[in-house]
Amino acid sequence: MPSIFTQAVHAGERQPAPSETPVATPIYHSVSYMQPSAAAMDAVFAGEQDGYVYRRHDNPTVRAFEQAMATLEGGEAAFATASGMAAVHAALLAAGVRAGSTVVAAQDCYGVTYSLLNTLLAEQGVTTRFVDATDLGLVQATLAERRPAALLVEIISNPLLKLANIAALAELAHAAGAALIVDSTFATPYLCQPLALGADYVVHSVSKYIGGHGDVLAGVVVTSRENRLRLFTVERLLGAVLAPEVAWLALRGLKTLPLRMERHCANALAVAAWLETHPAVARVHYPGLTSHLQHGLARTLLGQRGYGGMVAFELRQGTQDAAFRFMDALKLILPVTTLGDVSSLVLHPVMTSHRALPPAERLRLGITDGLLRLSIGIEDLADITADLDQALAALTEP
Ligand SMILES: Cc1ncc(COP(=O)(O)O)c(C=O)c1O
Repeated sequence: MPSIFTQAVHAGERQPAPSETPVATPIYHSVSYMQPSAAAMDAVFAGEQDGYVYRRHDNPTVRAFEQAMATLEGGEAAFATASGMAAVHAALLAAGVRAGSTVVAAQDCYGVTYSLLNTLLAEQGVTTRFVDATDLGLVQATLAERRPAALLVEIISNPLLKLANIAALAELAHAAGAALIVDSTFATPYLCQPLALGADYVVHSVSKYIGGHGDVLAGVVVTSRENRLRLFTVERLLGAVLAPEVAWLALRGLKTLPLRMERHCANALAVAAWLETHPAVARVHYPGLTSHLQHGLARTLLGQRGYGGMVAFELRQGTQDAAFRFMDALKLILPVTTLGDVSSLVLHPVMTSHRALPPAERLRLGITDGLLRLSIGIEDLADITADLDQALAALTEP
């Protein structure tokens, strides 16, 4: 009989998988897998046979989430990552960005994406040209001049909610030999499928709407069969893969994405319209409002189901002090640095996401001291507007 030392290691393990199919995907923690023979393992390593050998390469729970994302995005391959930033990084490398390459990126991209390009990748010899992605003439001229490996845009920009015309940008990128990477975090596949409009890679911070409950940090890249191997190779080498427990939570979140998005969009449109009439508010940025400069594009790009859950607005008292007093007066809406949760959230871009930008650059981008960004949750609309109303009223109190 084996000793207790051997029993403790092996007893009970490697039970045959049940012949009944579990309804919910189990969480597979195992780091490695046994194949029936060395030849079978060799075939899996060679990519000649589907199967699992090592968690950094593939995992059944993570694969379930990846397949769900590929389906919802209308893609053929998806790789889940440990964060949205890991997804942005992986997509850039898969698109061929390396020492000596240029990237053309939207100037109002997420602050950490901006820093990734401007610091880490710049130190590796990558040059980035930031452009106003709403100016198609400028994008075309920059692409022609720089011949970049990739054009990177966010479908709905942060925090001013400008839209990227994906179909037009895909045409321009491809004409210049560049891959188009679209960060679709703010839109989700509920509102738009960028691959169908010509994008080569779609990335998401799953930490936002897809996870949806503020308890997931994850990312995903979705692409075509053609780009699958490049992305898989990058993923395996970078190693920033998603943990199965987190993939399980993300898969669970995804099931209610359409229901949540329906409500986020309806609430956000109503809040934006309400804010636009409020005397303490100077300006509202929301693609669903006719006052939004790109409302026409918003209707074709997103408008089938709604315009998203993000709303930005500028206080008439356009100071940081007023913005801070407003945030401190909120009771329901939480002041936190994320978005896309079921709860309504508020953020002051100057203090948080755009803190690293020099003040003159922030102003040039239109990010003023009195600008606030709301992520409208799925609570009752009347409770959200009541909270905003009392916090705006607090601004005029002595
Ligand atoms: C548009 C966008 N892309 C990427 C990211 C990065 O995602 P993560 O925080 O999951 O790394 C964020 C985070 O806020 C984001 O807003």
